Amino acid sequence: MSWSRLVRTEQAPSPHAIAVAPSLLACDFSRLAEEVAAVEAEGAEFLHLDVMDGHFVPNLTFGPLLVEAVARSAKTTLDTHLMIQSPGRYLEAFCDAGSHIVIIHVEADGVKLPDDLRAIRARGCHAGLSLNPDKSFDAVAPWLDEIDLLLVMSVFPGFGGQSFMEKTLTTVERAREARAQRGLDFAIEIDGGINTQTAARAREAGVEILVAGTAIFRQPDYGAAIRAIRG
Ligand code: DX5
Ligand code: ZN
Repeated sequence: MSWSRLVRTEQAPSPHAIAVAPSLLACDFSRLAEEVAAVEAEGAEFLHLDVMDGHFVPNLTFGPLLVEAVARSAKTTLDTHLMIQSPGRYLEAFCDAGSHIVIIHVEADGVKLPDDLRAIRARGCHAGLSLNPDKSFDAVAPWLDEIDLLLVMSVFPGFGGQSFMEKTLTTVERAREARAQRGLDFAIEIDGGINTQTAARAREAGVEILVAGTAIFRQPDYGAAIRAIRG
């Protein structure tokens, strides 16, 4: 279980082989602490936080201040997804805000690889690298030794509620092969358009952590939604 070493040490061990990371992007921000507690009570292992800068993606969300607010109430592992340019400028702030995993994008303007990944680890967090659906696995292949997690985007980042792009499962399969061949142990996570059906496809391809926003927070029963995604 290559994701289990990513969870914070004080977190209760999960009996599941597949982990679920509810994306707070789709939650009710006026009731943030309650939303966090609700998905944690239903067994979510991670909380996924989508940071957008209006440049790398055409949308704006939040910065370290909100991550810090989530960290104050959360009991599970904070998975912070930086959809921002020049991420190196903000890595310390997002680590110090209470993130446990910080993910940067390989195609972001101003990203410095492998320096930014090393900076995340030096600040005590696990380092994640993500790629957009139009990028081939070759774009991340040189950096696999430097990461704890690979986040495969199954939609173009920027908005929740988009349709899953099946072709991105090729990247998952190639990542799994490369990991076995090279004796590495990074976890494979997928993000975008995950629901009961697409989660099953992603699990078959080798995904171990499933991010889902709409398919959890826009459902009446969070527990049923998490269990259905986990399979
Ligand atoms: C997309 C974000 C995702 C988003 C997923 O830009 O990175 O994490 O919240 O939302 P759903 O699950 O609704 O596709
Ligand atoms: Zn995300």
